[in-house]
Amino acid sequence: MPDRIPTPTRPLPLYEFLYWSQLADSQTPTAIGQILARARPFNASNGITGLLVFDGQRFCQHLEGPVAAVEALMGRIAADERHSEVHIAYEGALTQRRYHRFDMGYARADDPLEMEQLALLRGDAALQQFLALRSSFDIQS
Ligand SMILES: Cc1cc2nc3c(=O)[nH]c(=O)nc-3n(C[C@H](O)[C@H](O)[C@H](O)COP(=O)(O)O)c2cc1C
Repeated sequence: MPDRIPTPTRPLPLYEFLYWSQLADSQTPTAIGQILARARPFNASNGITGLLVFDGQRFCQHLEGPVAAVEALMGRIAADERHSEVHIAYEGALTQRRYHRFDMGYARADDPLEMEQLALLRGDAALQQFLALRSSFDIQS
């Protein structure tokens, strides 16, 4: 019997979401600590990477990962009562990751105007603005 030729494993198709939302009235800004403590180990073991930005009132999160995992997570996040007015500004297929840390980077936006301006944009314009903003944060992607 000839040896079987191993089939190369194909990487799973990647997908990304960019959304923004508002801290729920019932919450205080300290909710961010609990969110990250739970999110990081989950994301790390499910191949989800990205960045969560918070200005004390508004969230903006960019998530990427295998399509099924990231879609399921986006659904759970959208239903999370710790925030409201979840608006997906951009979603789409991705050929390679934009973030290489296997969990969730976190940045605090000090200028509320940045988040306000971002919330006015949709689609590719929102994505480009977020990516430009990302380079101003003191984080490793
Ligand atoms: C702004 C925000 C961002 C979140 N980001 C993540 C995340 O990146 N990964 C994650 O596993 N959960 C994240 N969560 C928590 C999820 O909404 C949800 O609580 C978690 O997936 C557990 O879901 P379950 O309680 O239905 O099991 C986030 C929640 C909020 C409010």
